[in-house]
Amino acid sequence: MAERSRLAVLGAGHLGPVIARLAIKAGYPVTIAASGDPEDIALITELMIPGVQPRWAADAVADADIVVLAIPLHRFPDLDPGLLSGKLVIDAMNYWPASDGVVQAFEDGGSSEIVSRRLAGSAVVKALNHIGYHELEDRARPAGAPDRGAVGIAGDDPVAVAATAALADRIGYHPVRLGSLRAGRALQPGGPVFGVVLTRPEFERAVRVEAMGEEAARDEAAREELRSLS
Ligand SMILES: NC(=O)c1ccc[n+]([C@@H]2O[C@H](COP(=O)([O-])OP(=O)(O)OC[C@H]3O[C@@H](n4cnc5c(N)ncnc54)[C@H](OP(=O)(O)O)[C@@H]3O)[C@@H](O)[C@H]2O)c1
Repeated sequence: MAERSRLAVLGAGHLGPVIARLAIKAGYPVTIAASGDPEDIALITELMIPGVQPRWAADAVADADIVVLAIPLHRFPDLDPGLLSGKLVIDAMNYWPASDGVVQAFEDGGSSEIVSRRLAGSAVVKALNHIGYHELEDRARPAGAPDRGAVGIAGDDPVAVAATAALADRIGYHPVRLGSLRAGRALQPGGPVFGVVLTRPEFERAVRVEAMGEEAARDEAAREELRSLS
């Protein structure tokens, strides 16, 4: 097997351990960190994620090629952007006002675009955020399975997008590239593919229909503006 990138998963709650387990099964060396002492998660990770190494977050990141952010979005400001500089960062976080509080910047746009602006030295890709943690594990399928689900991959750096697509494929999903980080808004809560596992054709259709809706809305706004000028 070709040498796999080293993965650090930040977040040892619901989502992080599932991503770590799937990645270990796919042959990636994986470390995991919560916000504090790795001793605190050593026993549980040994039981739940055989093969993973619990680390301090800074150490896990320092040794990784790919860092997966599986922490609540309101905890994201705790992370030092300098630590993540030069890394491929997979943003699996979502904005949940009920737990994150209402943050106007997130209400108005794409959360990963904001994450990416803060992590200016990293290549940020939005992925693995739109499927619930239970399903992410249960619905993973090898290539060729008829009911294999799709995972959206949104980013502006083609190399980072390709590496994330390879990861998604190896953990059991069809990677579907969305073209840009901005296009990753379709993967957010309230978007057309959020919270459901769709096959690739279903996924592509849902994203296309949503984009057509946006285009129609933009056309209507432009027509409205013209009418107001005449
Ligand atoms: N749950 C899902 O099905 C699901 C699916 C897709 C996406 N997501 C998104 O993934 C994110 C995490 O969700 P979750 O349900 O897994 O949350 P969770 O169960 O509350 O777990 C959060 C984890 O993040 C850790 N953490 C917080 N700040 C950290 C930091 N600075 N460095 C390292 N670790 C840190 C926490 O560690 P401590 O205990 O030490 O604070 C905890 O282990 C959210 O943005 C969520 O929207 C969740």
